[in-house]
Amino acid sequence: MRVLVTGGSGYIGSHAVVALMEAGHQVVVLDNLENSAGTVVSRIERITGQAPDFIEGDLRDADALEKVFANASFDAVMHFAGLKAVGESVSRPLAYYETNVGGTVRLCQAMERAGVRRLIFSSSATVYGDPARVPIDEDAATGGVTNPYGRSKHMVEQILFDLGRADPRWSIGILRYFNPVGAHESALIGESPRGIPNNLVPYIAQVANGEREQLNVFGDDYPTWDGTGVRDYIHVVDLVAGHLRALEFLEAQPGSHVWNLGRGEGYSVLEMVRAFEEASGRPVPYRVTDRRPGDIAECWADPSKAERELGWRAERDLATMMRDTWRWQHNQRIG
Ligand code: NAD
Ligand code: UD1
Repeated sequence: MRVLVTGGSGYIGSHAVVALMEAGHQVVVLDNLENSAGTVVSRIERITGQAPDFIEGDLRDADALEKVFANASFDAVMHFAGLKAVGESVSRPLAYYETNVGGTVRLCQAMERAGVRRLIFSSSATVYGDPARVPIDEDAATGGVTNPYGRSKHMVEQILFDLGRADPRWSIGILRYFNPVGAHESALIGESPRGIPNNLVPYIAQVANGEREQLNVFGDDYPTWDGTGVRDYIHVVDLVAGHLRALEFLEAQPGSHVWNLGRGEGYSVLEMVRAFEEASGRPVPYRVTDRRPGDIAECWADPSKAERELGWRAERDLATMMRDTWRWQHNQRIG
Protein backbone atom coordinates (compact mmCIF):
# COMPACT_ATOMS: atom_id res chain seq x y z
CA MET A 1 0.00 0.00 0.00
CA ARG A 2 0.96 3.63 -0.36
CA VAL A 3 0.63 5.18 3.08
CA LEU A 4 0.78 8.79 4.25
CA VAL A 5 2.24 8.95 7.76
CA THR A 6 1.58 12.23 9.54
CA GLY A 7 4.02 12.85 12.39
CA GLY A 8 6.29 10.25 10.81
CA SER A 9 9.48 11.76 12.14
CA GLY A 10 8.22 11.68 15.73
CA TYR A 11 8.77 8.95 18.30
CA ILE A 12 6.02 6.47 17.42
CA GLY A 13 5.57 7.60 13.81
CA SER A 14 9.25 6.93 12.94
CA HIS A 15 8.96 3.36 14.22
CA ALA A 16 5.78 2.93 12.20
CA VAL A 17 7.55 4.17 9.06
CA VAL A 18 10.29 1.57 9.58
CA ALA A 19 7.73 -1.20 10.09
CA LEU A 20 5.70 -0.14 7.04
CA MET A 21 8.79 0.05 4.81
CA GLU A 22 10.08 -3.30 6.05
CA ALA A 23 6.68 -4.78 5.20
CA GLY A 24 7.04 -3.48 1.63
CA HIS A 25 4.71 -0.48 1.82
CA GLN A 26 5.52 2.85 0.18
CA VAL A 27 5.61 5.67 2.68
CA VAL A 28 5.31 9.44 2.52
CA VAL A 29 5.97 11.31 5.77
CA LEU A 30 4.29 14.62 6.56
CA ASP A 31 5.73 16.42 9.58
CA ASN A 32 6.33 20.04 10.51
CA LEU A 33 9.32 19.05 12.71
CA GLU A 34 7.79 20.88 15.64
CA ASN A 35 8.75 18.05 17.98
CA SER A 36 11.25 16.01 16.00
CA ALA A 37 14.50 16.32 14.09
CA GLY A 38 15.05 16.38 10.33
CA THR A 39 17.80 13.77 10.83
CA VAL A 40 15.23 11.08 11.64
CA VAL A 41 14.63 10.41 7.95
CA SER A 42 18.29 9.59 7.33
CA ARG A 43 18.29 7.34 10.38
CA ILE A 44 15.27 5.52 8.98
CA GLU A 45 17.26 5.11 5.77
CA ARG A 46 20.14 3.59 7.75
CA ILE A 47 17.75 1.02 9.21
CA THR A 48 15.72 0.17 6.12
CA GLY A 49 18.23 0.91 3.35
CA GLN A 50 15.84 3.42 1.80
CA ALA A 51 14.64 6.89 2.73
CA PRO A 52 10.89 7.52 2.90
CA ASP A 53 9.58 10.50 0.96
CA PHE A 54 9.49 13.42 3.35
CA ILE A 55 7.31 16.52 3.18
CA GLU A 56 7.86 19.28 5.69
CA GLY A 57 4.36 20.60 6.19
CA ASP A 58 1.75 21.47 8.73
CA LEU A 59 -1.44 19.59 9.41
CA ARG A 60 -3.24 22.86 10.06
CA ASP A 61 -2.43 24.14 6.56
CA ALA A 62 -5.33 23.14 4.30
CA ASP A 63 -3.48 24.17 1.10
CA ALA A 64 -0.42 22.13 2.03
CA LEU A 65 -2.63 19.10 2.68
CA GLU A 66 -4.39 19.60 -0.61
CA LYS A 67 -1.03 19.50 -2.41
CA VAL A 68 0.07 16.36 -0.58
CA PHE A 69 -2.99 14.51 -1.84
CA ALA A 70 -2.85 16.09 -5.31
CA ASN A 71 0.76 14.99 -5.84
CA ALA A 72 0.33 11.33 -4.92
CA SER A 73 -2.36 8.74 -4.48
CA PHE A 74 -2.68 7.00 -1.13
CA ASP A 75 -4.40 3.86 0.07
CA ALA A 76 -4.34 4.86 3.72
CA VAL A 77 -3.22 7.43 6.26
CA MET A 78 -1.62 6.75 9.63
CA HIS A 79 -2.17 9.85 11.68
CA PHE A 80 0.39 10.38 14.47
CA ALA A 81 0.93 14.15 14.20
CA GLY A 82 -0.17 16.10 17.21
CA LEU A 83 0.81 17.72 20.47
CA LYS A 84 1.08 15.41 23.46
CA ALA A 85 2.26 17.11 26.65
CA VAL A 86 -0.49 16.98 29.24
CA GLY A 87 0.85 19.81 31.43
CA GLU A 88 1.43 22.10 28.44
CA SER A 89 -2.10 21.41 27.22
CA VAL A 90 -3.46 22.95 30.42
CA SER A 91 -1.60 26.22 29.78
CA ARG A 92 -2.03 26.22 25.96
CA PRO A 93 -5.46 24.65 25.39
CA LEU A 94 -6.13 26.46 22.09
CA ALA A 95 -2.89 25.18 20.56
CA TYR A 96 -3.87 21.63 21.52
CA TYR A 97 -7.39 21.89 20.16
CA GLU A 98 -6.17 23.61 17.00
CA THR A 99 -3.56 20.96 16.18
CA ASN A 100 -5.13 17.80 17.55
CA VAL A 101 -8.78 18.49 16.75
CA GLY A 102 -8.65 21.15 13.99
CA GLY A 103 -5.67 19.48 12.29
CA THR A 104 -7.43 16.12 12.24
CA VAL A 105 -10.59 17.65 10.77
CA ARG A 106 -8.50 19.31 8.04
CA LEU A 107 -6.76 16.03 7.34
CA CYS A 108 -10.07 14.16 7.02
CA GLN A 109 -11.44 16.87 4.71
CA ALA A 110 -8.39 16.59 2.46
CA MET A 111 -8.67 12.79 2.51
CA GLU A 112 -12.32 12.97 1.59
CA ARG A 113 -11.67 15.28 -1.33
CA ALA A 114 -8.98 12.90 -2.55
CA GLY A 115 -11.20 9.85 -2.05
CA VAL A 116 -8.85 8.33 0.57
CA ARG A 117 -11.03 6.95 3.33
CA ARG A 118 -8.82 4.59 5.32
CA LEU A 119 -7.40 6.06 8.51
CA ILE A 120 -5.52 4.82 11.56
CA PHE A 121 -5.66 7.26 14.48
CA SER A 122 -3.36 7.46 17.52
CA SER A 123 -5.65 7.67 20.51
CA SER A 124 -4.75 7.07 24.12
CA ALA A 125 -5.89 5.17 27.19
CA THR A 126 -6.32 8.64 28.64
CA VAL A 127 -9.83 8.66 27.07
CA TYR A 128 -10.89 6.20 29.81
CA GLY A 129 -10.26 8.88 32.47
CA ASP A 130 -10.16 7.27 35.92
CA PRO A 131 -11.37 3.78 35.02
CA ALA A 132 -13.95 2.05 37.21
CA ARG A 133 -11.96 -1.18 37.00
CA VAL A 134 -8.82 -2.72 35.53
CA PRO A 135 -8.03 -4.29 33.18
CA ILE A 136 -9.79 -1.85 30.86
CA ASP A 137 -11.62 -3.19 27.81
CA GLU A 138 -12.84 -1.14 24.85
CA ASP A 139 -16.42 -1.08 26.17
CA ALA A 140 -15.39 0.77 29.34
CA ALA A 141 -16.84 4.27 29.63
CA THR A 142 -14.83 7.06 28.04
CA GLY A 143 -14.79 10.76 28.91
CA GLY A 144 -14.21 12.11 32.38
CA VAL A 145 -10.84 13.31 31.12
CA THR A 146 -9.29 16.06 33.20
CA ASN A 147 -6.99 17.91 30.76
CA PRO A 148 -7.19 19.47 27.26
CA TYR A 149 -4.79 16.92 25.74
CA GLY A 150 -6.97 14.02 26.84
CA ARG A 151 -10.14 15.84 25.85
CA SER A 152 -8.69 16.50 22.37
CA LYS A 153 -8.16 12.74 21.92
CA HIS A 154 -11.68 12.00 23.14
CA MET A 155 -13.15 14.68 20.84
CA VAL A 156 -11.32 13.31 17.80
CA GLU A 157 -12.62 9.83 18.57
CA GLN A 158 -16.19 11.19 18.62
CA ILE A 159 -15.60 13.09 15.36
CA LEU A 160 -14.25 9.96 13.67
CA PHE A 161 -17.16 7.82 14.88
CA ASP A 162 -19.55 10.46 13.47
CA LEU A 163 -17.67 10.45 10.17
CA GLY A 164 -17.87 6.66 9.94
CA ARG A 165 -21.61 6.75 10.69
CA ALA A 166 -22.20 9.47 8.08
CA ASP A 167 -20.36 7.70 5.28
CA PRO A 168 -19.85 3.93 5.40
CA ARG A 169 -17.08 4.16 2.82
CA TRP A 170 -14.74 5.26 5.63
CA SER A 171 -12.57 2.65 7.35
CA ILE A 172 -11.29 3.97 10.64
CA GLY A 173 -9.08 2.28 13.19
CA ILE A 174 -8.86 4.04 16.54
CA LEU A 175 -5.91 2.69 18.51
CA ARG A 176 -5.87 3.43 22.22
CA TYR A 177 -2.24 3.26 23.32
CA PHE A 178 -1.34 2.47 26.88
CA ASN A 179 2.23 3.58 27.77
CA PRO A 180 4.64 3.34 24.82
CA VAL A 181 8.30 2.99 25.83
CA GLY A 182 11.52 1.60 24.38
CA ALA A 183 13.23 2.27 21.09
CA HIS A 184 14.25 0.51 17.91
CA GLU A 185 16.88 -2.11 18.68
CA SER A 186 19.33 -0.37 16.32
CA ALA A 187 19.33 2.52 18.83
CA LEU A 188 19.05 4.87 15.82
CA ILE A 189 15.53 6.10 16.56
CA GLY A 190 13.73 6.60 19.85
CA GLU A 191 12.07 9.19 22.04
CA SER A 192 13.88 12.52 22.51
CA PRO A 193 11.82 14.69 24.82
CA ARG A 194 12.65 18.37 24.72
CA GLY A 195 13.37 19.84 28.15
CA ILE A 196 12.38 17.99 31.29
CA PRO A 197 10.68 14.70 30.39
CA ASN A 198 7.05 14.45 31.48
CA ASN A 199 6.91 10.69 31.29
CA LEU A 200 8.45 8.18 33.63
CA VAL A 201 10.72 6.08 31.43
CA PRO A 202 12.53 8.93 29.61
CA TYR A 203 13.09 10.55 33.01
CA ILE A 204 14.51 7.36 34.54
CA ALA A 205 16.77 6.93 31.49
CA GLN A 206 18.20 10.42 31.94
CA VAL A 207 18.83 9.79 35.64
CA ALA A 208 20.60 6.50 34.88
CA ASN A 209 22.68 8.32 32.26
CA GLY A 210 23.78 10.94 34.77
CA GLU A 211 21.85 13.75 33.07
CA ARG A 212 19.53 14.26 36.04
CA GLU A 213 20.22 13.84 39.72
CA GLN A 214 17.26 11.79 40.83
CA LEU A 215 13.76 10.69 39.95
CA ASN A 216 10.78 12.23 41.72
CA VAL A 217 8.32 9.42 42.45
CA PHE A 218 4.92 11.08 42.37
CA GLY A 219 3.32 9.57 45.47
CA ASP A 220 3.67 6.25 47.28
CA ASP A 221 0.26 6.22 48.95
CA TYR A 222 -1.86 4.90 46.08
CA PRO A 223 -3.94 1.76 46.68
CA THR A 224 -1.46 -0.38 44.69
CA TRP A 225 0.93 -3.16 45.78
CA ASP A 226 3.78 -0.82 46.69
CA GLY A 227 1.83 2.47 46.83
CA THR A 228 3.22 3.86 43.55
CA GLY A 229 1.28 4.29 40.28
CA VAL A 230 0.79 1.25 38.06
CA ARG A 231 0.77 1.44 34.25
CA ASP A 232 0.77 -0.86 31.22
CA TYR A 233 4.09 -0.20 29.45
CA ILE A 234 4.36 -1.45 25.86
CA HIS A 235 7.40 -1.58 23.58
CA VAL A 236 7.04 0.90 20.71
CA VAL A 237 8.03 -1.78 18.16
CA ASP A 238 5.17 -4.00 19.38
CA LEU A 239 2.86 -0.98 19.31
CA VAL A 240 3.56 -0.18 15.67
CA ALA A 241 3.19 -3.84 14.71
CA GLY A 242 -0.41 -3.46 15.94
CA HIS A 243 -0.86 -0.59 13.45
CA LEU A 244 0.13 -2.79 10.54
CA ARG A 245 -2.32 -5.49 11.63
CA ALA A 246 -5.03 -2.84 11.98
CA LEU A 247 -4.32 -1.61 8.46
CA GLU A 248 -4.74 -5.14 7.08
CA PHE A 249 -7.93 -5.56 9.08
CA LEU A 250 -9.43 -2.33 7.70
CA GLU A 251 -8.70 -3.44 4.17
CA ALA A 252 -10.74 -6.59 4.74
CA GLN A 253 -13.43 -5.16 7.02
CA PRO A 254 -14.29 -1.48 6.49
CA GLY A 255 -16.11 0.44 9.21
CA SER A 256 -15.07 2.08 12.46
CA HIS A 257 -13.14 0.00 14.95
CA VAL A 258 -11.40 0.63 18.23
CA TRP A 259 -8.64 -1.44 19.79
CA ASN A 260 -6.59 -1.19 22.96
CA LEU A 261 -2.87 -1.59 22.37
CA GLY A 262 -1.28 -2.64 25.64
CA ARG A 263 0.38 -5.69 27.17
CA GLY A 264 -2.35 -6.36 29.70
CA GLU A 265 0.11 -6.19 32.57
CA GLY A 266 0.85 -3.41 35.03
CA TYR A 267 4.13 -2.35 36.62
CA SER A 268 4.59 0.11 39.48
CA VAL A 269 6.98 3.05 39.39
CA LEU A 270 9.34 1.28 41.77
CA GLU A 271 9.28 -1.90 39.67
CA MET A 272 10.22 0.23 36.66
CA VAL A 273 13.11 1.78 38.57
CA ARG A 274 14.45 -1.64 39.55
CA ALA A 275 14.05 -3.02 36.02
CA PHE A 276 15.94 -0.06 34.59
CA GLU A 277 18.74 -0.43 37.12
CA GLU A 278 19.11 -4.05 36.08
CA ALA A 279 19.08 -3.28 32.36
CA SER A 280 21.56 -0.42 32.60
CA GLY A 281 23.74 -1.55 35.48
CA ARG A 282 23.44 2.02 36.76
CA PRO A 283 21.73 3.25 39.95
CA VAL A 284 18.52 5.29 39.65
CA PRO A 285 18.29 7.35 42.83
CA TYR A 286 14.82 8.58 43.70
CA ARG A 287 12.82 10.43 46.30
CA VAL A 288 9.11 10.28 46.95
CA THR A 289 7.24 13.56 46.39
CA ASP A 290 3.58 14.61 46.27
CA ARG A 291 1.19 13.02 43.83
CA ARG A 292 1.05 14.64 40.36
CA PRO A 293 -2.36 16.34 39.92
CA GLY A 294 -4.60 14.38 37.56
CA ASP A 295 -2.74 11.06 38.02
CA ILE A 296 -4.68 7.87 38.61
CA ALA A 297 -3.60 4.89 40.72
CA GLU A 298 -3.61 2.18 38.10
CA CYS A 299 -4.30 1.70 34.42
CA TRP A 300 -3.77 -1.40 32.35
CA ALA A 301 -5.38 -2.88 29.28
CA ASP A 302 -7.44 -5.84 28.44
CA PRO A 303 -5.82 -6.34 25.01
CA SER A 304 -7.86 -9.44 24.11
CA LYS A 305 -9.93 -7.70 21.40
CA ALA A 306 -6.78 -6.84 19.43
CA GLU A 307 -5.52 -10.37 19.91
CA ARG A 308 -8.81 -11.88 18.73
CA GLU A 309 -9.47 -9.55 15.79
CA LEU A 310 -6.01 -8.52 14.67
CA GLY A 311 -4.06 -11.60 15.68
CA TRP A 312 -1.70 -9.23 17.48
CA ARG A 313 -0.15 -9.29 20.90
CA ALA A 314 2.80 -7.46 22.41
CA GLU A 315 5.79 -9.76 22.57
CA ARG A 316 8.59 -7.78 24.17
CA ASP A 317 8.90 -8.03 27.95
CA LEU A 318 9.88 -5.43 30.50
CA ALA A 319 13.59 -6.31 30.40
CA THR A 320 13.62 -5.80 26.61
CA MET A 321 11.78 -2.47 26.90
CA MET A 322 14.31 -1.23 29.44
CA ARG A 323 17.32 -2.59 27.52
CA ASP A 324 16.27 -0.85 24.31
CA THR A 325 15.49 2.41 26.12
CA TRP A 326 18.92 2.31 27.71
CA ARG A 327 20.75 1.57 24.46
CA TRP A 328 18.99 4.48 22.79
CA GLN A 329 19.65 6.86 25.69
CA HIS A 330 23.28 5.83 25.90
CA ASN A 331 23.75 6.03 22.14
CA GLN A 332 22.37 9.57 22.06
CA ARG A 333 24.71 10.63 24.83
CA ILE A 334 27.81 9.24 23.15
CA GLY A 335 26.76 9.84 19.54
P1 NAD B 1 5.91 13.01 18.92
O1 NAD B 1 5.77 14.39 19.44
O2 NAD B 1 7.24 12.34 19.06
O3 NAD B 1 5.46 12.93 17.40
C1 NAD B 1 4.46 13.76 16.86
C2 NAD B 1 5.00 14.34 15.56
O4 NAD B 1 3.99 15.20 15.02
C3 NAD B 1 6.27 15.17 15.75
O5 NAD B 1 7.26 14.73 14.84
C4 NAD B 1 5.82 16.60 15.45
O6 NAD B 1 6.86 17.35 14.84
C5 NAD B 1 4.65 16.36 14.53
N1 NAD B 1 3.66 17.44 14.53
C6 NAD B 1 3.16 18.11 15.59
N2 NAD B 1 2.29 19.04 15.19
C7 NAD B 1 2.23 18.96 13.83
C8 NAD B 1 1.53 19.66 12.84
N3 NAD B 1 0.68 20.67 13.14
N4 NAD B 1 1.72 19.33 11.55
C9 NAD B 1 2.57 18.32 11.21
N5 NAD B 1 3.26 17.63 12.11
C10 NAD B 1 3.10 17.94 13.40
O7 NAD B 1 4.77 12.14 19.66
P2 NAD B 1 4.60 10.56 19.71
O8 NAD B 1 4.92 10.12 21.08
O9 NAD B 1 5.24 9.93 18.56
O10 NAD B 1 3.01 10.46 19.56
C11 NAD B 1 2.38 10.23 18.32
C12 NAD B 1 0.88 10.24 18.53
O11 NAD B 1 0.53 9.25 19.49
C13 NAD B 1 0.35 11.56 19.05
O12 NAD B 1 -0.89 11.83 18.44
C14 NAD B 1 0.15 11.29 20.54
O13 NAD B 1 -0.85 12.10 21.10
C15 NAD B 1 -0.27 9.83 20.51
N6 NAD B 1 0.00 9.14 21.76
C16 NAD B 1 1.28 9.14 22.26
C17 NAD B 1 1.53 8.50 23.46
C18 NAD B 1 2.93 8.50 24.04
O14 NAD B 1 3.10 8.16 25.23
N7 NAD B 1 3.98 8.81 23.30
C19 NAD B 1 0.50 7.86 24.18
C20 NAD B 1 -0.78 7.88 23.62
C21 NAD B 1 -1.03 8.52 22.41
C1 UD1 C 1 0.78 10.36 31.03
C2 UD1 C 1 -0.31 11.34 30.72
C3 UD1 C 1 -1.33 10.67 29.79
C4 UD1 C 1 -0.64 10.16 28.52
C5 UD1 C 1 0.46 9.19 28.96
C6 UD1 C 1 1.25 8.63 27.81
C7 UD1 C 1 -0.45 12.79 32.70
C8 UD1 C 1 -1.29 13.21 33.85
N1 UD1 C 1 -0.94 11.78 31.96
O1 UD1 C 1 0.21 9.29 31.66
O2 UD1 C 1 -2.33 11.58 29.42
O3 UD1 C 1 -1.57 9.49 27.70
O4 UD1 C 1 1.38 9.90 29.82
O5 UD1 C 1 1.97 9.63 27.18
O6 UD1 C 1 0.58 13.37 32.42
N2 UD1 C 1 5.85 9.24 37.40
C9 UD1 C 1 6.72 9.54 38.44
N3 UD1 C 1 7.72 10.44 38.21
C10 UD1 C 1 7.91 11.05 37.00
C11 UD1 C 1 7.02 10.74 35.94
C12 UD1 C 1 5.99 9.84 36.17
O7 UD1 C 1 6.57 9.00 39.54
O8 UD1 C 1 8.83 11.87 36.86
C13 UD1 C 1 4.78 8.23 37.63
C14 UD1 C 1 3.38 8.74 37.39
O9 UD1 C 1 2.84 9.25 38.58
C15 UD1 C 1 2.67 7.45 36.91
C16 UD1 C 1 3.77 6.67 36.18
O10 UD1 C 1 4.99 7.20 36.67
O11 UD1 C 1 2.25 6.69 38.01
C17 UD1 C 1 3.73 6.83 34.68
O12 UD1 C 1 3.74 8.21 34.35
P1 UD1 C 1 3.77 8.74 32.82
O13 UD1 C 1 4.90 8.10 32.12
O14 UD1 C 1 3.73 10.23 32.87
O15 UD1 C 1 2.45 8.16 32.17
P2 UD1 C 1 0.91 8.30 32.62
O16 UD1 C 1 0.79 8.87 33.98
O17 UD1 C 1 0.26 7.01 32.39
